[in-house]
Amino acid sequence: TGTFSRGARGLRFNPVAPNKNDVVTVADGYGQNIVIRWGEPILNGAPAFDPDNQTAKAQAGQFGYNCDYMAVLDMPHERHQQVLVINHEYTDEVLMFAGYDAANPTREQAEIAWAAHGLSVLVAAEDRRSGKLTAITRHRLNRRVTATTPFEVTGPAAGSELLRTSADPAGKRVLGTLNNCGGGITPWGTVLSGEENFNQYFGNAEKVTDPTTAARLKRYGISGGASERKWERFDKRFDVAQEPNETNRFGWVVEIDPFDPESTPRKLTALGRFKHEAAEPRLTDDGRPVLYMGDDERFDYFYKFVSSKRMMKGTSRAAREHNRTLLDEGTLYVAKFIGDSPAAEIDGSGKLPEDGEFDGRGEWIPLASGNKSYVEGMTAEEVYVFTRLAADKVGATKMDRPEDVEPSPRTGRVYIALTNNKDRGAAGKAPADEANPRNANKHGQILELAEGWNDPAADHFSWRLFLVCGDPEDPSTYFGGFPKDQVSPISCPDNITFDAYGNLWISTDGNALGSNDGLFGVATAGSRRGEVKQFLTVPLGAETCGPIVQDRRVLVAVQHPGELDGASVEKPASAWPDGPGKLVRPSVVAVWRKDGCDIGV
Ligand code: FEO
Ligand code: CA
Ligand code: CA
Ligand code: CA
Repeated sequence: TGTFSRGARGLRFNPVAPNKNDVVTVADGYGQNIVIRWGEPILNGAPAFDPDNQTAKAQAGQFGYNCDYMAVLDMPHERHQQVLVINHEYTDEVLMFAGYDAANPTREQAEIAWAAHGLSVLVAAEDRRSGKLTAITRHRLNRRVTATTPFEVTGPAAGSELLRTSADPAGKRVLGTLNNCGGGITPWGTVLSGEENFNQYFGNAEKVTDPTTAARLKRYGISGGASERKWERFDKRFDVAQEPNETNRFGWVVEIDPFDPESTPRKLTALGRFKHEAAEPRLTDDGRPVLYMGDDERFDYFYKFVSSKRMMKGTSRAAREHNRTLLDEGTLYVAKFIGDSPAAEIDGSGKLPEDGEFDGRGEWIPLASGNKSYVEGMTAEEVYVFTRLAADKVGATKMDRPEDVEPSPRTGRVYIALTNNKDRGAAGKAPADEANPRNANKHGQILELAEGWNDPAADHFSWRLFLVCGDPEDPSTYFGGFPKDQVSPISCPDNITFDAYGNLWISTDGNALGSNDGLFGVATAGSRRGEVKQFLTVPLGAETCGPIVQDRRVLVAVQHPGELDGASVEKPASAWPDGPGKLVRPSVVAVWRKDGCDIGV
């Protein structure tokens, strides 16, 4: 077999079959290399990875754990270099530390984990003949942001009483970012990163007696008892009983300027607080940025933010100063999806309604704008800090876990990955609706949203389901109308991105069909719309993250390889990437064509 196969331009490769290989398996004719592994030094002075003698200080100069979203930016004046900004979502202590005792972690282990969270900024060099990409360690732009790096809080809730703590009585300076999941690149060259499941880091919430505070903690999943990692033993800010407002300082979108290593990254309160998955931009015709954002929780919501300020073009100092304020002023909205088929035709089985499509219209419901609240009984500050509670009050649509979102650079249509929802239709839970049409939804769906007049600032939209995922032989699946005997099975869409041809690329997390997770490409227009093709699979226990599809290379972050029930350093479930007897290491992989040509042409 060769490199070529039929398919939409950009997707001409032979699909990879579902498998349980403990390696990264790529399409025929493609090669791969590891760009960077957990623990490799990226800053000046950082030591080589030595798992038997790991320290927090070493980790703070090394690539962090569990690489997730990646942003790739061109390096000015350097044609063959790129700047990567990479999220480190969380730590897997049992896979990081030999003999880890989950009931009694040591201070050093906690501090290593703080240093392994956050972000890496990393410059990488392209090979001129192939698509191979290699990290440039110790480049002047390389940077680590961790769970202890100072952040500035900006936007309308900065300084709010709800954000003040004993360490920060002004409510404007937070140490660290946690559980950074998806993200986005702004049109002015900064990178956004969403703080997702931050609830897991806080302990002792059951000791909070004030009922309002307790209800807010509960809505954000901050439950009682010790936290999984016991960080509250080593820093009281993780102890909710002692510092109840510290939790309110996480769950934001953060913005970082990768080209200024001295800059202070910021937490953007105008974008609301929830389990932020990602934040992906469009620009209005008059130059105002709009961000689309999902809250990754079963029955949570989809949001957008419309800035009231226009972007200044260029990279002058004045432009950079101005553009850093764009996401502080504007209006935050939440989405309501209204199906166009009779409710009786949506029976939870996934059977298509009589009009042949899961589709309808929708409304953007405003929540707050500056210091004005549109939600009865809540101040604007409360809307920003407790956005989920605001959205609960206004009749927003409860979705099947909004993961990544991506506007098509060709059409402006916005694609939303709704990864799964095992509780859809369960007793006491929301039943299936046209946008979330399957009860006990194991495989997820991808929704395509078209703004009114294709204006990202519009207050209404239309939508349809593009993919209803699963085994194509399962009658509840739908592949954009494409013949289902010609597509790859796909389950649990998570991170998504577009290539230069307008094809959507989808990485998966938690494949419920029994094979490893992977990366898939699918045409969104033309006669091949809906033809899903699998491009690669990742090793056992891993999730496929942060896909980037460039002309000559595909980049994926292989997150949590070997994370399977009961696995540990002593009983590994994967030997990737360094082989048997070595720790598993989350890593970034570049995939390219062995003949040096472009991907999928
Ligand atoms: Fe971190 Fe929603 O995945
Ligand atoms: Ca319909
Ligand atoms: Ca994306
Ligand atoms: Ca996921």
